[in-house]
Amino acid sequence: MPTPEDARAGLVADLVRDGRLRSPRIRAAMESVPRHLFLPGLAPDAAYADEAVPIKSDGGVTVSSVSQPSMVAIMLEQLDVAPGHRVLEIGAGAGWNAGLLAHVVGTAGAVTTVDIDDDLVAGTRAHLAAAGLDRVEAVTADGAGGYPPSAPYDRIELTVGSTGVRPEWVAQLAPEGRLLLPLTVRGSQLSVAFAHTGPGRLVSTSVRSCAFVRLRGAGADPGADAELSGGGWTVQPSCRSGDGAADPRVLERVLDEPGKDRPAPVRCTVSDLWDGLGLWCALADTAVVRLLGPPGDGLASALFGVAGARVALGLASADGCALLLADPRATVRSFGPGGEAAADRLVALADGWLRAGRPHAADLRIDAVVPELVPAPGAGPPGDAEIVDGAGTRLRVAWGIGPG
Ligand SMILES: C[S@@+](CC[C@H](N)C(=O)[O-])C[C@H]1O[C@@H](n2cnc3c(N)ncnc32)[C@H](O)[C@@H]1O
Repeated sequence: MPTPEDARAGLVADLVRDGRLRSPRIRAAMESVPRHLFLPGLAPDAAYADEAVPIKSDGGVTVSSVSQPSMVAIMLEQLDVAPGHRVLEIGAGAGWNAGLLAHVVGTAGAVTTVDIDDDLVAGTRAHLAAAGLDRVEAVTADGAGGYPPSAPYDRIELTVGSTGVRPEWVAQLAPEGRLLLPLTVRGSQLSVAFAHTGPGRLVSTSVRSCAFVRLRGAGADPGADAELSGGGWTVQPSCRSGDGAADPRVLERVLDEPGKDRPAPVRCTVSDLWDGLGLWCALADTAVVRLLGPPGDGLASALFGVAGARVALGLASADGCALLLADPRATVRSFGPGGEAAADRLVALADGWLRAGRPHAADLRIDAVVPELVPAPGAGPPGDAEIVDGAGTRLRVAWGIGPG
């Protein structure tokens, strides 16, 4: 069994080798902050594996975890945090990322971390004290409101997913500050780093794909997922029905039919369903859905396999749907009277993605305007999609090579 020090050095070497850990100050923090003290009871090789570790669940659903080291490294690079910064973290968990932030900002800076659960904050305080980093302010609070007592902040980092950019966070940012959050955009969760360019205005500096638990409390979003009766299928629409999405229950009526196949113009990977092709399609057409279900025979066996489940990208109209299938070969299968037309739309979208060179989340630029903080928001240049997010913030999303 390796010592904690050896296991930590091995993890850092791996993160540097695959390019996720680049800047010396974040590398120094990863080398120095002992992750195993934030996961008491775990053997060193488990504490330093590149995996998220669930630490709290509610009704069988994970509500808190210690994040995956490679994701934490990617986000700290996105955050561009530096010595002397005043930082707010929303989502303390066990306190590991807060410890890393404290190491980077040093004694000239300040870190406040909040979590909605008392027991997690108590654990965070104990772990930080064990690591000699108890200068971090750890508070029980609903981070939906930010944390006004220690504002303004040079950096605000959420380590919990949100469906919107809340005005409270933007209002608590220093003029040149940055906000980093896992933001759901048309069904894909993206880690978006925003630069604060003026009151109520943000411009993305970097976008990456990610997978975080969602905000609870005042910022919780009930979601628009629809569970279909029979078969264990869930449909994730890419936007709410009021925004032009079709009723996902159309799938319930047609999925038992045999369907009609045509070759798909593209063979994509599972990650493309959220990060590449799926994001491209959902930004272009509000009828795009993802279908998720348990493994099984029949249709399920033809879907993409992901983490013990099955998933397909689809397009649902009022009277039919089309799904992109993975096995035995890339196929578009249409169902119902409107299925052929839905398949035409899905194929045209996939063709467009191929012609554009298979762009991914990292190629996106997102401008955000918080109406209540901007006296005269104005129109601005057109984007590929205009979205009002779950907090009422206006997002203008455009494809192009992202800045970083
Ligand atoms: C993925 S965990 C955080 C990981 C952690 N930062 C780390 O160092 O690994 C997400 C955390 O967000 C917390 N959370 C959820 N909703 C919240 C809210 N409204 N305000 C503050 N924290 C919240 C959860 O309790 C959970 O501990």
